[in-house]
Amino acid sequence: MAQKRNLDGAEVVLRAVGLSKSFPGVKALTNVDFSVRKGEVVALLGENGAGKSTLIKILCGVYQCDEGYIELEGVRRAFTIPLDAKSAGIGVVHQELNYVPTISVAENIFMNNIPRRGPFVDQKRLEREAREIMAKVGLDLDPRMLLGKCTVAQKQLIEIAKVLAEKVKVLILDEPTSSLNDVETECLFSLVDKMAGMGVAVIYISHKLDELFRLADRVVVLRDGVVTGQIGIAEASREQLISMMVGRTLSVMYPQQLIVPGEVALEVKGLTGPAFRDLSFAARKGTIFGIYGLLGSGHLEVGPTVFGQLNYAAGEIKVDGAAVKIANPLDAMKAGIAYVPAERKVEGLVLNASVRNNIMVSYYALRRKRLIDKATEKRISAKWIENLSIKTPTAGTAAESLSGGNQQKVVLSRWLELEPEVLILNEPTRGIDVGAKAEIYRILKDLCGLGKCVIMVTSEMPELLNMSDEIMVMHEGKVMGIVDAKETSQEQVLRMAIGG
Ligand SMILES: Nc1ncnc2c1ncn2[C@@H]1O[C@H](COP(=O)(O)OP(=O)(O)OP(=O)(O)O)[C@@H](O)[C@H]1O
Ligand SMILES: [Mg+2]
Repeated sequence: MAQKRNLDGAEVVLRAVGLSKSFPGVKALTNVDFSVRKGEVVALLGENGAGKSTLIKILCGVYQCDEGYIELEGVRRAFTIPLDAKSAGIGVVHQELNYVPTISVAENIFMNNIPRRGPFVDQKRLEREAREIMAKVGLDLDPRMLLGKCTVAQKQLIEIAKVLAEKVKVLILDEPTSSLNDVETECLFSLVDKMAGMGVAVIYISHKLDELFRLADRVVVLRDGVVTGQIGIAEASREQLISMMVGRTLSVMYPQQLIVPGEVALEVKGLTGPAFRDLSFAARKGTIFGIYGLLGSGHLEVGPTVFGQLNYAAGEIKVDGAAVKIANPLDAMKAGIAYVPAERKVEGLVLNASVRNNIMVSYYALRRKRLIDKATEKRISAKWIENLSIKTPTAGTAAESLSGGNQQKVVLSRWLELEPEVLILNEPTRGIDVGAKAEIYRILKDLCGLGKCVIMVTSEMPELLNMSDEIMVMHEGKVMGIVDAKETSQEQVLRMAIGG
């Protein structure tokens, strides 16, 4: 592949020298050198817990480093608070979205510089400019809408729009596409291209290797807080990046397993919910039923509705051929249905509880056990920490001190442990590194092997096509079709998703 951008003579904008950072029980970064040039897109790659977010949080003043220093345009700078870095022209979209749900979309975008007219908020200008900025990221929302009402993808796009509202020299994106679909992602990529073209230095974090090939000029690899290598994207191959990252080659990403479709495990008939109508499908035991849709198609509401988190107005849900009434999640769990949400940190994790207790939550909820059995807890949590390589100092560590991806793994293991008859997952590998991804794929296929039914809502096309047996595509609240995964293509799925 040819070099993407001509960076000859481009000067270094941001440089980190010898950064080290420790947290209780973990050395997150050790002597890290890192730099990014004007107009360059540098990708940071590394397993969950490798130190990527910690590095960028130091670059933007959220954390202070224990050792080392930062230079911006050749001048040594100490950012003691995020605002310092922001005023210096460093714009960041963090992995954890931070927004105020109770104020409007427009107010969130202009949080720090609300347009005024004299002492008053210039409401017209606020809304007009919010619309303009949203249009850049392909969003067409009412600027007066409360942010809390937006979907995860919309929130993520708004977060990006917020940064674009400022003048930046350095743009840092920490897994910005984790909840975006292909169309939204492509829109973001052209924006990043444009920003780089205007001379902005970009630092990009993603676990999706395809994105790095599409976007980056150079990849810097972190392992256990140490820079273990860097490579120009033109010289890099997938295999090479993976082995630089995990220290071994990965033989199979998608396990091929002979599937034996069984009886229908979950049947949904004429279901009309908050964001879809007249939804009907049947998912079989021993198979993976994939669900795909673009923003607003209603696909994200299927899981929460079947799981009893959202109410349905009409329709029928059958498990194992028997009609079930699902009014709340406990009904669903008793019927053998489990649901793993996408926005796990908000919906799934008790932040100040330990990793162990977080893994055990649904185990206890379902069994109604009064007795706390230390040995079982120890065994189960140790199993998942090992299986999904959850990086944590101990099982007793608070979940909030784990890296984003490791938090995801904790919530996921809680549901996998239940081995429910029907497991619905929303974005099962969001934010998860390739090594653990392959492990999750294996676990899902193993569940199929045990005759369980897996329903997977994903915006990741390779995952959808390679893991599913059948794929249901939705558009504007309706089913556009259910296709055999082996006989379909990315193009066909996308065509259906846009309503064609
Ligand atoms: N606030 C904190 N308190 C304690 N430990 C922390 C804190 N933030 C990060 N860590 C630890 O530092 C290490 C690096 O975490 P970091 O968030 O930088 O990883 P990451 O590379 O961004 O991973 P991911 O891909 O999962 O987002 C991890 O072991 C994590 O548990
Ligand atoms: Mg991170």
